[in-house]
Amino acid sequence: MRRLEGKVVIVTGGAQGIGEAYSIGMAKEGARVIIADLHEEFGLKLAEKINNEGNYAIFFKTDVSKKKDAYSLIDKALSEYDRVDVLINNAAILKSATIEETTEEMWDMQLAVNVKGVFFCSQAAAKAMVKQKSGKIINISSIAAVGAQPGLCVYSSTKGAVLTMTKVFALELCSSNIQVNAILPGTTDTGMAKQAMIDPKWTKQVIKSIPMGRLGKPNDLLGAVIYFASDDSNYCTGQTLIVDGGVSMI
Ligand SMILES: NC(=O)c1ccc[n+]([C@@H]2O[C@H](COP(=O)([O-])OP(=O)(O)OC[C@H]3O[C@@H](n4cnc5c(N)ncnc54)[C@H](O)[C@@H]3O)[C@@H](O)[C@H]2O)c1
Repeated sequence: MRRLEGKVVIVTGGAQGIGEAYSIGMAKEGARVIIADLHEEFGLKLAEKINNEGNYAIFFKTDVSKKKDAYSLIDKALSEYDRVDVLINNAAILKSATIEETTEEMWDMQLAVNVKGVFFCSQAAAKAMVKQKSGKIINISSIAAVGAQPGLCVYSSTKGAVLTMTKVFALELCSSNIQVNAILPGTTDTGMAKQAMIDPKWTKQVIKSIPMGRLGKPNDLLGAVIYFASDDSNYCTGQTLIVDGGVSMI
Protein backbone atom coordinates (compact mmCIF):
# COMPACT_ATOMS: atom_id res chain seq x y z
CA MET A 1 0.00 0.00 0.00
CA ARG A 2 1.28 3.47 -0.90
CA ARG A 3 1.58 5.65 2.23
CA LEU A 4 0.52 9.01 0.76
CA GLU A 5 -2.18 7.94 -1.72
CA GLY A 6 -4.10 11.00 -2.95
CA LYS A 7 -2.47 13.44 -0.49
CA VAL A 8 -1.73 16.93 -1.78
CA VAL A 9 1.92 17.61 -0.98
CA ILE A 10 3.80 20.87 -1.59
CA VAL A 11 7.61 20.73 -1.76
CA THR A 12 9.24 24.17 -1.73
CA GLY A 13 12.64 24.10 -3.40
CA GLY A 14 11.42 20.82 -4.85
CA ALA A 15 13.17 21.06 -8.23
CA GLN A 16 16.73 20.17 -7.26
CA GLY A 17 18.89 18.53 -4.60
CA ILE A 18 17.17 17.07 -1.55
CA GLY A 19 13.85 18.65 -2.64
CA GLU A 20 14.00 16.73 -5.92
CA ALA A 21 14.33 13.46 -3.98
CA TYR A 22 11.31 14.49 -1.86
CA SER A 23 9.23 15.33 -4.96
CA ILE A 24 10.01 12.01 -6.66
CA GLY A 25 9.72 9.96 -3.47
CA MET A 26 6.42 11.48 -2.32
CA ALA A 27 4.91 11.02 -5.79
CA LYS A 28 5.97 7.33 -5.75
CA GLU A 29 4.03 7.04 -2.47
CA GLY A 30 0.90 8.20 -4.30
CA ALA A 31 0.96 11.93 -3.46
CA ARG A 32 -0.15 14.66 -5.84
CA VAL A 33 2.99 16.78 -5.65
CA ILE A 34 3.29 20.51 -6.25
CA ILE A 35 6.91 21.41 -6.96
CA ALA A 36 7.28 25.02 -5.80
CA ASP A 37 10.60 26.43 -6.91
CA LEU A 38 12.26 29.49 -8.40
CA HIS A 39 13.94 27.37 -11.06
CA GLU A 40 11.32 26.97 -13.79
CA GLU A 41 13.32 24.85 -16.22
CA PHE A 42 14.33 22.21 -13.65
CA GLY A 43 10.88 22.25 -12.04
CA LEU A 44 9.02 21.69 -15.31
CA LYS A 45 11.42 18.91 -16.38
CA LEU A 46 11.06 17.16 -13.04
CA ALA A 47 7.24 17.33 -13.13
CA GLU A 48 7.34 15.82 -16.64
CA LYS A 49 9.65 13.01 -15.50
CA ILE A 50 7.40 12.18 -12.52
CA ASN A 51 4.27 12.15 -14.73
CA ASN A 52 6.02 9.98 -17.34
CA GLU A 53 6.69 7.44 -14.60
CA GLY A 54 2.94 7.20 -13.98
CA ASN A 55 2.91 9.34 -10.84
CA TYR A 56 1.62 12.86 -10.37
CA ALA A 57 3.29 16.28 -10.10
CA ILE A 58 2.85 19.85 -11.27
CA PHE A 59 5.28 22.74 -11.14
CA PHE A 60 4.37 26.15 -9.73
CA LYS A 61 6.95 28.92 -9.99
CA THR A 62 7.40 30.35 -6.50
CA ASP A 63 9.77 32.67 -4.72
CA VAL A 64 9.17 31.72 -1.09
CA SER A 65 10.81 34.93 0.10
CA LYS A 66 7.76 36.83 -1.16
CA LYS A 67 4.62 36.66 0.98
CA LYS A 68 2.50 37.13 -2.15
CA ASP A 69 4.08 34.05 -3.79
CA ALA A 70 3.57 31.97 -0.65
CA TYR A 71 -0.14 32.77 -0.69
CA SER A 72 -0.41 32.20 -4.49
CA LEU A 73 1.14 28.76 -3.95
CA ILE A 74 -1.51 27.74 -1.44
CA ASP A 75 -4.25 29.25 -3.66
CA LYS A 76 -2.92 27.09 -6.52
CA ALA A 77 -3.21 23.94 -4.38
CA LEU A 78 -6.74 24.90 -3.33
CA SER A 79 -7.89 25.74 -6.85
CA GLU A 80 -6.41 22.50 -8.28
CA TYR A 81 -7.27 20.07 -5.47
CA ASP A 82 -9.38 21.89 -2.91
CA ARG A 83 -6.96 21.02 -0.10
CA VAL A 84 -3.35 21.00 1.17
CA ASP A 85 -2.36 17.95 3.17
CA VAL A 86 1.38 18.42 3.53
CA LEU A 87 3.71 21.41 3.23
CA ILE A 88 7.44 20.70 3.14
CA ASN A 89 9.39 23.90 3.77
CA ASN A 90 12.58 22.82 2.05
CA ALA A 91 13.69 25.86 -0.02
CA ALA A 92 16.72 27.62 1.44
CA ILE A 93 19.90 29.38 0.42
CA LEU A 94 23.36 29.36 1.94
CA LYS A 95 25.97 32.11 1.61
CA SER A 96 29.14 31.07 3.38
CA ALA A 97 31.25 33.90 4.86
CA THR A 98 33.38 34.53 7.93
CA ILE A 99 31.98 36.89 10.56
CA GLU A 100 34.24 39.66 9.23
CA GLU A 101 33.15 39.14 5.62
CA THR A 102 29.42 38.96 6.35
CA THR A 103 27.37 41.80 4.85
CA GLU A 104 23.92 43.16 5.55
CA GLU A 105 22.82 41.90 2.13
CA MET A 106 23.80 38.33 3.10
CA TRP A 107 21.64 38.61 6.23
CA ASP A 108 18.66 40.00 4.31
CA MET A 109 18.77 37.34 1.56
CA GLN A 110 19.10 34.36 3.87
CA LEU A 111 16.55 35.65 6.37
CA ALA A 112 14.07 36.32 3.56
CA VAL A 113 14.24 32.82 2.04
CA ASN A 114 15.11 30.62 5.02
CA VAL A 115 13.02 32.27 7.74
CA LYS A 116 10.37 34.58 6.25
CA GLY A 117 9.74 32.02 3.49
CA VAL A 118 9.08 29.23 5.99
CA PHE A 119 6.84 31.51 8.04
CA PHE A 120 4.60 32.80 5.26
CA CYS A 121 4.28 29.47 3.42
CA SER A 122 3.30 27.90 6.76
CA GLN A 123 0.92 30.74 7.65
CA ALA A 124 -0.87 30.45 4.29
CA ALA A 125 -0.99 26.62 4.49
CA ALA A 126 -2.15 26.67 8.11
CA LYS A 127 -5.20 28.77 7.19
CA ALA A 128 -6.30 26.05 4.74
CA MET A 129 -5.36 23.21 7.11
CA VAL A 130 -7.30 24.73 10.03
CA LYS A 131 -10.44 24.73 7.84
CA GLN A 132 -9.79 21.08 6.85
CA LYS A 133 -9.01 20.21 10.49
CA SER A 134 -5.90 18.30 9.40
CA GLY A 135 -2.45 18.87 7.95
CA LYS A 136 1.26 18.32 8.24
CA ILE A 137 4.00 20.93 8.06
CA ILE A 138 7.56 19.65 7.76
CA ASN A 139 10.37 22.16 8.17
CA ILE A 140 13.83 21.39 6.87
CA SER A 141 16.38 22.78 9.32
CA SER A 142 20.00 21.57 9.48
CA ILE A 143 22.56 20.16 11.90
CA ALA A 144 24.14 23.60 11.44
CA ALA A 145 21.38 24.82 13.80
CA VAL A 146 22.71 22.72 16.68
CA GLY A 147 26.48 22.69 16.10
CA ALA A 148 28.88 25.45 15.13
CA GLN A 149 30.54 25.48 11.71
CA PRO A 150 32.92 28.22 10.56
CA GLY A 151 31.52 30.50 7.85
CA LEU A 152 27.90 29.63 8.57
CA CYS A 153 26.90 32.19 11.20
CA VAL A 154 23.98 33.62 9.24
CA TYR A 155 22.80 30.36 7.66
CA SER A 156 22.98 28.51 11.01
CA SER A 157 21.04 31.29 12.72
CA THR A 158 18.27 31.01 10.13
CA LYS A 159 18.13 27.24 10.65
CA GLY A 160 17.91 27.78 14.43
CA ALA A 161 14.97 30.09 13.81
CA VAL A 162 13.31 27.29 11.83
CA LEU A 163 13.52 25.02 14.90
CA THR A 164 11.90 27.68 17.09
CA MET A 165 9.15 28.30 14.52
CA THR A 166 8.50 24.55 14.36
CA LYS A 167 7.68 24.45 18.08
CA VAL A 168 5.52 27.59 18.11
CA PHE A 169 3.55 26.48 15.03
CA ALA A 170 3.19 22.98 16.51
CA LEU A 171 1.76 24.36 19.75
CA GLU A 172 -0.59 26.88 18.16
CA LEU A 173 -1.92 24.38 15.61
CA CYS A 174 -2.18 21.30 17.87
CA SER A 175 -5.88 21.72 18.53
CA SER A 176 -6.63 21.83 14.78
CA ASN A 177 -5.08 18.38 14.22
CA ILE A 178 -2.07 19.85 12.40
CA GLN A 179 1.34 18.36 13.16
CA VAL A 180 4.49 20.41 12.66
CA ASN A 181 7.91 18.75 12.81
CA ALA A 182 11.45 19.39 11.63
CA ILE A 183 14.18 17.36 9.96
CA LEU A 184 17.84 18.22 10.45
CA PRO A 185 19.93 16.82 7.60
CA GLY A 186 23.68 16.43 7.93
CA THR A 187 25.95 17.33 5.03
CA THR A 188 24.22 15.95 1.95
CA ASP A 189 25.71 15.80 -1.51
CA THR A 190 23.89 18.61 -3.40
CA GLY A 191 24.68 21.96 -5.00
CA MET A 192 24.30 23.64 -1.61
CA ALA A 193 26.84 21.35 0.08
CA LYS A 194 29.33 21.98 -2.76
CA GLN A 195 28.92 25.70 -2.16
CA ALA A 196 29.61 25.27 1.56
CA MET A 197 32.73 23.13 0.96
CA ILE A 198 34.58 24.98 -1.79
CA ASP A 199 37.94 23.85 -0.43
CA PRO A 200 38.54 20.09 -1.17
CA LYS A 201 40.50 19.89 2.11
CA TRP A 202 37.35 20.94 3.93
CA THR A 203 35.32 18.22 2.13
CA LYS A 204 37.81 15.56 3.29
CA GLN A 205 37.63 16.90 6.84
CA VAL A 206 33.80 16.84 6.78
CA ILE A 207 33.71 13.23 5.53
CA LYS A 208 36.25 12.23 8.21
CA SER A 209 33.95 13.66 10.88
CA ILE A 210 31.00 11.50 9.78
CA PRO A 211 30.89 8.21 11.73
CA MET A 212 29.23 6.47 8.76
CA GLY A 213 32.16 7.61 6.60
CA ARG A 214 30.28 9.27 3.74
CA LEU A 215 28.22 12.33 2.87
CA GLY A 216 24.46 11.93 2.91
CA LYS A 217 22.60 11.34 -0.36
CA PRO A 218 19.28 13.13 -0.99
CA ASN A 219 17.41 9.80 -0.77
CA ASP A 220 18.78 9.25 2.76
CA LEU A 221 16.29 11.93 3.90
CA LEU A 222 13.26 10.38 2.25
CA GLY A 223 12.19 7.96 5.02
CA ALA A 224 12.09 10.78 7.59
CA VAL A 225 9.97 13.03 5.39
CA ILE A 226 7.52 10.23 4.51
CA TYR A 227 7.13 9.43 8.22
CA PHE A 228 6.27 13.05 9.08
CA ALA A 229 3.95 13.35 6.04
CA SER A 230 2.02 10.14 6.67
CA ASP A 231 -0.58 9.10 9.24
CA ASP A 232 2.22 7.20 11.06
CA SER A 233 3.18 10.50 12.75
CA ASN A 234 -0.33 11.59 13.77
CA TYR A 235 0.58 11.71 17.50
CA CYS A 236 3.98 13.36 16.97
CA THR A 237 4.35 17.13 16.87
CA GLY A 238 6.94 19.83 17.62
CA GLN A 239 9.75 17.28 17.21
CA THR A 240 13.05 17.20 15.37
CA LEU A 241 14.67 14.26 13.63
CA ILE A 242 18.40 14.38 12.87
CA VAL A 243 19.53 12.42 9.78
CA ASP A 244 23.30 12.95 9.64
CA GLY A 245 25.20 9.64 9.50
CA GLY A 246 25.87 9.94 13.25
CA VAL A 247 27.74 13.28 13.31
CA SER A 248 25.75 14.83 16.13
CA MET A 249 26.12 11.88 18.53
CA ILE A 250 29.84 12.60 19.08
N1 LIG B 1 22.80 19.83 1.33
C1 LIG B 1 23.12 19.84 2.62
O1 LIG B 1 24.24 19.48 3.02
C2 LIG B 1 22.10 20.27 3.65
C3 LIG B 1 22.39 20.04 5.00
C4 LIG B 1 21.48 20.43 5.96
C5 LIG B 1 20.27 21.01 5.58
N2 LIG B 1 20.02 21.22 4.26
C6 LIG B 1 18.75 21.84 3.93
O2 LIG B 1 18.04 21.01 3.03
C7 LIG B 1 17.23 21.83 2.16
C8 LIG B 1 17.55 21.50 0.70
O3 LIG B 1 18.92 21.77 0.49
P1 LIG B 1 19.68 21.32 -0.86
O4 LIG B 1 21.05 20.94 -0.45
O5 LIG B 1 18.84 20.37 -1.63
O6 LIG B 1 19.76 22.74 -1.62
P2 LIG B 1 19.94 23.05 -3.19
O7 LIG B 1 20.61 24.37 -3.24
O8 LIG B 1 20.57 21.89 -3.86
O9 LIG B 1 18.44 23.18 -3.69
C9 LIG B 1 17.62 24.20 -3.19
C10 LIG B 1 16.39 24.39 -4.07
O10 LIG B 1 15.66 25.51 -3.54
C11 LIG B 1 15.33 26.40 -4.62
N3 LIG B 1 15.20 27.76 -4.10
C12 LIG B 1 16.18 28.61 -3.69
N4 LIG B 1 15.67 29.78 -3.33
C13 LIG B 1 14.32 29.68 -3.49
C14 LIG B 1 13.24 30.58 -3.30
N5 LIG B 1 13.44 31.84 -2.87
N6 LIG B 1 11.98 30.15 -3.57
C15 LIG B 1 11.77 28.89 -4.03
N7 LIG B 1 12.75 28.02 -4.26
C16 LIG B 1 14.02 28.40 -3.99
C17 LIG B 1 16.47 26.24 -5.62
O11 LIG B 1 16.07 26.66 -6.92
C18 LIG B 1 16.73 24.73 -5.53
O12 LIG B 1 15.91 24.02 -6.41
C19 LIG B 1 17.53 23.27 2.55
O13 LIG B 1 16.57 23.72 3.48
C20 LIG B 1 18.88 23.17 3.23
O14 LIG B 1 19.10 24.24 4.11
C21 LIG B 1 20.89 20.86 3.29
